[in-house]
Amino acid sequence: MDLSAAMLREARRRAVAEDLDNVVFEQADAQVHRMPQEVFDVAISWTGTMFFADVVAAFSNIAAALRSGGRFVQLVWQEPARNEWFCDFGEAMAAGRTTPVPPPGAPGPFALADPDRIRAALTGSGFTDVVILAQGAPMCFGADADSAHRFVSGLLGWMLEDLDDQGRAGALRALRASLTRHEQPDGFFYFFYASATWLVKAVREA
Ligand SMILES: C[S@@+](CC[C@H](N)C(=O)[O-])C[C@H]1O[C@@H](n2cnc3c(N)ncnc32)[C@H](O)[C@@H]1O
Repeated sequence: MDLSAAMLREARRRAVAEDLDNVVFEQADAQVHRMPQEVFDVAISWTGTMFFADVVAAFSNIAAALRSGGRFVQLVWQEPARNEWFCDFGEAMAAGRTTPVPPPGAPGPFALADPDRIRAALTGSGFTDVVILAQGAPMCFGADADSAHRFVSGLLGWMLEDLDDQGRAGALRALRASLTRHEQPDGFFYFFYASATWLVKAVREA
């Protein structure tokens, strides 16, 4: 389930490529979409739940779709300072500007970075046995400098919209310099950046 038609298109493409015929895709809002009740064994979200405007509404809706004892597993980002990729790319693309910081808890990549907030939201929406595990993994952004540069400048291109040509060129140069600093000497994997996430597991209350 996703709100985004583009994301679902890509998911459908991958399902076909892998010959999967037991998958259903829904374009829907996880906060309110009426799902079959008390039937699913597990719900999984990979860096999605932090974008919910109302986390408790969404978690309650997911709880209602899980059978008693069913599991809910999420991967969410830890705070920005522990995510080198975010800090480095953000600094390059900011081009010397101070970028606004969203208010704590506002929907966005780091909205669930505080484990207390995740725990409270889960226990307040019908889950128990909450386990939050710290994960750290190097992130790779491309197989070579050009593809990594293309990928990141596409992902964060919106940050350059209000810059003039000179500012934009400077930001893209700074991004290139960051990628060069992170190039791996073995020439096999390129451009590793440190990342930190929480793997969050919970069980639907009986
Ligand atoms: C960072 S992307 C992660 C997508 C995917 N899980 C992945 O790992 O590639 C976050 C996704 O959450 C989706 N999303 C945000 N709020 C949502 C909601 N209320 N219901 C369903 N999907 C939502 C967005 O459309 C977006 O595709």
